Amino acid sequence: MSNMEPREQMAGKEEAVDLLAAITPDLVKIEQAMQADLTAIAPDIAPLLNEILHYGLFAGGKRIRPLLAVLCSRLCGGTDSGVVSLSIAFEYLHCATLFHDDVIDQAVTRRGKAAVNVAYGETAAILAGDFLHARSMLLVGRGGGIEALEVFCEATAAMVDGEFLQLRNASMLSQNHDEYFAVIMGKTARLIGAACEIGALVAGAGVEASQALRNYGLHLGCAFQIIDDLLDYQGDTVSTGKAVGNDFCEGKMTLPLILALNKAQEKDRQRLLSMLAGGSEERVSLFAEATALISRYEGFTRARRMAEEMADKARAQLQIFDQEAVRQTWSILESLISYVLNRKK
Ligand code: IPE
Ligand code: IPE
Ligand code: MG
Ligand code: MG
Repeated sequence: MSNMEPREQMAGKEEAVDLLAAITPDLVKIEQAMQADLTAIAPDIAPLLNEILHYGLFAGGKRIRPLLAVLCSRLCGGTDSGVVSLSIAFEYLHCATLFHDDVIDQAVTRRGKAAVNVAYGETAAILAGDFLHARSMLLVGRGGGIEALEVFCEATAAMVDGEFLQLRNASMLSQNHDEYFAVIMGKTARLIGAACEIGALVAGAGVEASQALRNYGLHLGCAFQIIDDLLDYQGDTVSTGKAVGNDFCEGKMTLPLILALNKAQEKDRQRLLSMLAGGSEERVSLFAEATALISRYEGFTRARRMAEEMADKARAQLQIFDQEAVRQTWSILESLISYVLNRKK
């Protein structure tokens, strides 16, 4: 999370913490746990697989999912020893979905370098993703038992379902935001929700706390994906490490576009629809025009407002944890909400 500007994000907060400084020790532990796990399995796996795992995993990811698991565990009074080695399962599954997602989205750049499908080919990307998926389940089962594994597998299944929903929606030129929210809930929010819930469960939290943290993660995850979709139009490739404009060029219907289409005058609506009906090569040259039309109908500002609403709902879930003993962790989880809204990468 090197792009954070913690002081700016948390200006005016009573319980201000320097976010980056506060999370660095955990990020270091997460990094070390991944390195140690890969070293442990290296003798048993093909050298090429080992190489791809290092290539894909250690390439500048923000590590927000394992971090959330560790923080939510601590918020519920957990001791850190086991949760760090479990938490890396969330990064593994996340990376597995990125390897596969880049094949599906035909993406060429990820985390600032050639995506795995480009560097090693689609077959290798799919297989390496399968390996990480399997390894992630093993780590969750080992560290969290059957209850955690159930939550984890349900989230994984929901991710696949979200991708199918997205596939179906791609051919629906008229969508409302409920359909979009169903997609992002599945493909992004459920894993983030599971990271938070499982963090709580391994700390021995009761139903009220684990469900509050699950809901915190679900709302944070929705905000996270809306911002991702905004960055796909408005971000900067150097910061995001991904190609800007990929969603539009692939014909993906994300929130800014959906909101603009629903509000546009007939002439502009038809223009946007004709762009979507064309080929992806053609759309590359139409990206600036599409962005201007989305802007005209406030697609970006309204999408951002919806991300802020999600962020408010995430924040509300933390109220029950506002106690002196866990003030520092609570404060970090609060600050992460602002980070998600203001992130540039
Ligand atoms: C990208 O996730 C995929 C989405 C769910 C939007 P991140 O933005 O967390 O990617 P990394 O891990 O930091 O590269
Ligand atoms: C997130 O959607 C996909 C996953 C949950 C794997 P995107 O397709 O928007 O993710 P990026 O932009 O490629 O990271
Ligand atoms: Mg993608
Ligand atoms: Mg995206």
